Amino acid sequence: MSRGILVVGSLNMDMSVHMETMPAVGETVLGDGLGYQMGGKGANQACACGRLGGEVKILGCVGRDEFGSRQIESLEAAGVDASGLRQSPGLPTGTAVIYVDGNGDNSIVVIPGANRECGEQYLRERDELFQWCGIVVLQMEIPMEAVLYAARRGRELGKTVILNPAPAPDRLPDELLGLVDYLTPNETELAKLSGIAAMGQADLKRAARRLIEKGVKKVLVTLGEQGALLVDGETERLYPARQVESVDTTAAGDCFNGALATALAEGMAEDEAIRFANLAASLAVTRKGAQSSLPDREEVERLSGDNRERSA
Ligand code: ATP
Ligand code: RIB
Repeated sequence: MSRGILVVGSLNMDMSVHMETMPAVGETVLGDGLGYQMGGKGANQACACGRLGGEVKILGCVGRDEFGSRQIESLEAAGVDASGLRQSPGLPTGTAVIYVDGNGDNSIVVIPGANRECGEQYLRERDELFQWCGIVVLQMEIPMEAVLYAARRGRELGKTVILNPAPAPDRLPDELLGLVDYLTPNETELAKLSGIAAMGQADLKRAARRLIEKGVKKVLVTLGEQGALLVDGETERLYPARQVESVDTTAAGDCFNGALATALAEGMAEDEAIRFANLAASLAVTRKGAQSSLPDREEVERLSGDNRERSA
């Protein structure tokens, strides 16, 4: 299998506002600070792959503006090949407003801007990247037609397709579910997509199995501080997270997905790849921001070494 990872997805400029408690509707609260960081689920996942040593290219759209240029610089600094990105002549780079509370939990509003121009035709014109890669990584902040096309093309070419269904729409087309090797929802996304409000482990497994019945090969549910649950139709296995003090969970899921893709592309066994993804994501939650929080390979290797020593 090619070691190449192709991420097709969104790129945003994040504006993060930190406060102790989220404002309720109609309420005003005082915040602790405002930060501008590079974000967007596609860009974050590509950046995670690059920092962790993956061979990664990204397809997506930014505006012809300062945010777009800064995004390209940030990706290139992380080792991501961003030469296939489209710069929209008419729409601005996507933006996201992120509220982060004292527990590190967040609420996000995305204004897609140029991400809307990541369409099927644009992807068709860059088919060499689909042929080059071994893994296609997708999320849901670009038009559905693009997600569907990328998954279809990936499957046609025999590539592994990872779909992080975030943000989750009310439903995913059955055709799309049938094209996915790894679906990686968090609990909220799983509940929405399956129609089963997951409360405990039994509900989570039932919800994941419902998506497997619709054609997904494996569902890997991210469970925040509890780690991740793999359900593949035959087995179910929980991979506990490393215990850390969470400061800001923004991009934890992105880090998990990027790390998973990187590990699988390198040929790591699935078990090992999920543990690697948990470790990488546990580092991301200890730091503020999206791309600014993503770890490099050395940091994760150091943790893996510590873990091996403890279990020896
Ligand atoms: P976000 O949308 O905030 O980026 P998410 O909801 O997509 O995140 P989560 O399930 O919260 O994703 O987290 C993804 C992964 O990050 C988890 O599977 C786990 O590996 C790691 N993680 C998240 N929160 C914690 C935590 N508090 N402690 C340790 N690891 C964590
Ligand atoms: O997953 C985190 C990301 O979601 C942020 O960077 C924000 O841009 C939104 O896309």
